[in-house]
Amino acid sequence: MNPPAGQKIDYLRLSVTDRCNFRCVYCMPPEGVEFKSHEQILAYEDMVFFVKTAVELGITKVRITGGEPLARKGLTDLVRQIRAIPEIRDVSLTTNGVMLPRNAAALKEAGLNRVNISVDSLDPDRYRMLTRGGSLKFGLAGVEAALEHGFHPVKINVVMMPELINELPAFVQITKDRPIHVRFIEWMPVGSCGPRTVGESLSKDRLMAELEKIGLEGPGELKPVASPGGWGPARYYRYPGYEGTIGFIGSMSDHFCNECNRLRLTADGKLKNCLFSSHEVDARPAMQARDREAVLAAVSESLGCKTFDKNVLPGRTARNMSQVGG
Ligand code: 5AD
Ligand code: SF4
Repeated sequence: MNPPAGQKIDYLRLSVTDRCNFRCVYCMPPEGVEFKSHEQILAYEDMVFFVKTAVELGITKVRITGGEPLARKGLTDLVRQIRAIPEIRDVSLTTNGVMLPRNAAALKEAGLNRVNISVDSLDPDRYRMLTRGGSLKFGLAGVEAALEHGFHPVKINVVMMPELINELPAFVQITKDRPIHVRFIEWMPVGSCGPRTVGESLSKDRLMAELEKIGLEGPGELKPVASPGGWGPARYYRYPGYEGTIGFIGSMSDHFCNECNRLRLTADGKLKNCLFSSHEVDARPAMQARDREAVLAAVSESLGCKTFDKNVLPGRTARNMSQVGG
């Protein structure tokens, strides 16, 4: 199917590794996944060649994802090389933040524009449970490092897992005095992890009702505001006088597929046109051969069968989120 009229694919999510220092319950099975071997994973040079080619088709923004992207050595160099491509005007990173304190300065210097950090709980025990062993202290140190080094906006990703409801006052509080943008993301049944059914997770409407109640009890009415920066499907709100915002990504309940502007490249070189689709095009041989025409053909093949409608796609994908990068 062709893109809906006027719809442009200008955003690439580039997964640089399937490895991670965490095993978040919604992202990886408890035993972990079999990681791809070094030979199966794209070299940074292949990725840079890919991005240089993809700009011809209109890609102007790149988000680097994983697994945990900072788990791969030399990431700063990749950022620098992508940032040096004139058509690319925004390079961002999604990370669990734990390795940010030691990388933030170099990433800033390399030209990274923005970071999103996954912090699914502000309670140390629940954080440890959700990440299967992670330390909240280190995750939050990543948030501090991002703020200190002037990345803007700093967004925190929170997947709406059951029990989140009890933590809402704490998440509201961290948006009060600092420019922290908390985004609640509806859990997506991708791969084999997480709650068994969507019904067991929380919805945007349920959370919104709870946040409105918190507003009435204290900070005041939650009002819609413009995005603090970025082009995704999140909708943002703010309590009166608060510095940060609260965003929602209604991955399941909203119908934003027809506005989708993204293409995904996995660390092993497969093009994916949708998180919910199992359709993959192997672009690795074309990249490795530095064959521009073949890369363009692979992208066209992938986008050519992008459905722009998750509801027509059957069942769960084989890849877990850690192998796609969200
Ligand atoms: N549903 C929703 N969001 C997810 N993420 C990972 N797995 C899921 C899922 N099943 C989010 C994480 C991370 C980003 C890469 O994707 O919050 O921040
Ligand atoms: Fe790792 Fe991110 Fe997946 Fe958690 S969500 S296991 S931090 S890749």
